[in-house]
Amino acid sequence: MGISKSFFVASLSLLLAVLASTGEGSHQPVVMPVAMELSAKYYRKTCPNVQNAVRTVMEHRLDMAPAVLRLFFHDCFVNGCDASVLLNRTDTMESEKDAEPANTSLAGFDVIDEIKSVLEHDCPATVSCADILALASRDAVALLGGPSWSVPLGRMDSRQASKAAAEDANNLPNPNSDLGELLRVFETHGLDARDFTALSGAHTVGKAHSCDNYRDRVYGDHNIDPSFAALRRRSCEQGRGEAPFDEQTPMRFDNKYYQDLLHRRGLLTSDQELYTHGGEVSSDLVEVYAKNRKAFFADFARAMVKMGEIRPPEWMPVEVRLNCGMVNN
Ligand code: HEM
Ligand SMILES: *[C@@H]1O[C@H](CO)[C@@H](O)[C@H](O)[C@H]1NC(C)=O
Ligand SMILES: *[C@@H]1O[C@H](CO)[C@@H](O)[C@H](O)[C@H]1NC(C)=O
Repeated sequence: MGISKSFFVASLSLLLAVLASTGEGSHQPVVMPVAMELSAKYYRKTCPNVQNAVRTVMEHRLDMAPAVLRLFFHDCFVNGCDASVLLNRTDTMESEKDAEPANTSLAGFDVIDEIKSVLEHDCPATVSCADILALASRDAVALLGGPSWSVPLGRMDSRQASKAAAEDANNLPNPNSDLGELLRVFETHGLDARDFTALSGAHTVGKAHSCDNYRDRVYGDHNIDPSFAALRRRSCEQGRGEAPFDEQTPMRFDNKYYQDLLHRRGLLTSDQELYTHGGEVSSDLVEVYAKNRKAFFADFARAMVKMGEIRPPEWMPVEVRLNCGMVNN
């Protein structure tokens, strides 16, 4: 037993040495095995402290929690959850950050970089940026008072980003879309009406940074509380028009978003579309979630796990990035 164990340790150190030496120069991209399942225990041996490390940084950067949650959504809806959204522009590749209209408002990149640098110190070249986004989003929600859940891990990071894919309205939904269009986009990603209704509840935290996102709604839409429309028209007339989604508790992950929708006080057209005509799956669920916070939390947690399982296409070359803003060279 002693012999086989020391042989095992020796081979392991050799393997680690090889891995470490490749850290200097070429990191060969690997193609991810298609059937590989994500697992909550993925880093149990290789980076046992990963969950604490992510959470500690998020606790210190709570003001950025909504922005981080949004980054994960934008990552997963553009060629799968592969951290493509984090890549900076280079001479040869455009960045998803520069895709319109989100180019004015995606944020939180520095928080992910901070987590990554802690993890590169604790367990070098091990934890993918895509997994960091998944864990940081879970912690963002939990720390703002929302549900928590076990996050399946083992995602890989893409070696490509696609500005065109990030600008494609079939990938990322538009704030002026109607219910049918929104459902279709979510369905493209394997998410049903229930997932869509629960995930939209993320807009119980954070804000829109510009009136451009809700101008048509507050100046033209009839399915809106008149005093809310007047309030937000005033936001539009002052500066850029920064406005919270949920006025009452914008930094609290609760079910007030759905109560706002019942009162026709949804900020974006795409928010209010969940509760417009009556009789759809989404309208019924808005009524349930508005009354029953637990039901919302359970569905939200389940839908986040499902969203987090959206895979990059099989042709995507992947790796564990050493720096979330750039591919390994
Ligand atoms: C239904 C489709 C969706 C549309 C059309 C949409 C659109 C938007 C828009 C226009 C903003 C404001 C951007 C700005 O000006 O800063 C925003 C913010 C945000 N979105 Fe969504 N979103 C959708 C779904 C989601 C989902 C599924 C999530 C997460 C699960 C999410 C999380 C957030 C968060 C947390 C913010 C606030 C960010 C901050 O305060 O910095 N959104 N979204
Ligand atoms: C967003 O993209 C548009 C079109 O490329 C550009 O005109 C605008 O200046 C960009 N905004 C920011 C903040 O980069
Ligand atoms: C990516 O860009 C951001 C902001 O422009 C910068 O802070 C960050 O250091 C960059 N990351 C890399 C790897 O170049």
